[in-house]
Amino acid sequence: MIDLRAYWWPLAIEAELTHDKPLARTLHDQPLVLFRDRAGQAVVMPDRCPHRHAPLSCGRVHHGELACPYHGWQFTADGHCSKVPGLKRQPAGGPLIKPLASCSAHGLIWACLQPGPATPPPVAPAISSSVDSFFMSDIVHCEMADAAENFLDGFHTHFVHAGWIRRDKRRQQVSARVSALTDGIEARYSEEGLQSGLISQLFEGSRSHSMGRFRLPGLAEIEYHGQRGLNLLVSAWLTPETPQRLRLHARIATRRGYLPAGLKRLLLRRLFGVILRQDKAILEETQANRLRFAMTPPLDTELDLLGPAIRQLLRGEQLDPALHREVSALL
Ligand code: FES
Ligand SMILES: [Fe+2]
Repeated sequence: MIDLRAYWWPLAIEAELTHDKPLARTLHDQPLVLFRDRAGQAVVMPDRCPHRHAPLSCGRVHHGELACPYHGWQFTADGHCSKVPGLKRQPAGGPLIKPLASCSAHGLIWACLQPGPATPPPVAPAISSSVDSFFMSDIVHCEMADAAENFLDGFHTHFVHAGWIRRDKRRQQVSARVSALTDGIEARYSEEGLQSGLISQLFEGSRSHSMGRFRLPGLAEIEYHGQRGLNLLVSAWLTPETPQRLRLHARIATRRGYLPAGLKRLLLRRLFGVILRQDKAILEETQANRLRFAMTPPLDTELDLLGPAIRQLLRGEQLDPALHREVSALL
């Protein structure tokens, strides 16, 4: 069984964490607090004051130190108590709180629950200057495998996003090639052409090929390419707050074009907001319904291109590195 706690997980978008206010987050059922130290570096700690266990995320940040909301004890980035208000002699001694390993990458703040993480911290590739990008985030009440599959599955779009992404009456013959990655699974689609959905018609033009991939522990990504290169890249990082509650951080990147980035962001935020609400609704209804039917296993067909492999990867099973499957379908 895979130990998801040993991995690095994104907790917040960089811009969400200001210099004066802490943020509350949960990772694998662990309540955490995030704040910025004097140098502006993000710090991640258990969200519990050692004095009477008040949530530190309800406190304030003073000059890079975190002050508890209850009696005002103040903590440094390395977990030392630097001030006990009212005490004549200020405290000495070792750290009272143990910060988690944390880092910044891809515009997100990451942490790992395991002391001395088994995997290296994520490193973001250099940002291409030819794309505009922005983040959206949300909470979705469902399991990781279902959210990742939903994000990468084209065959629900005619129904859940009818008219927005595809139309059932205007399906196209496509070829998909599914193959294993070192840490995931990918489907590559060709022969797609012009799309019938509003979003593609506004922002994409004719599609030459596209990819959908899942990478452990929780990244689902879609890439749409046209004649002039990459048109759209959506990276959805899914962080398990609890086994059935995810925090989604989605980065939407589009090729820089003639529309000003601010206007494009406004439009895309609206459009992706609709898509996200539609997916969230079906995922949460499905999750609730599954619980009423006591874990009946799902039924797969060859159109469920990535879901079975995603579930396998999240169970800690190795995929056959030579896995290679061609599927022809009406998408
Ligand atoms: S509970 Fe935090 S200072 Fe008392
Ligand atoms: Fe969807």
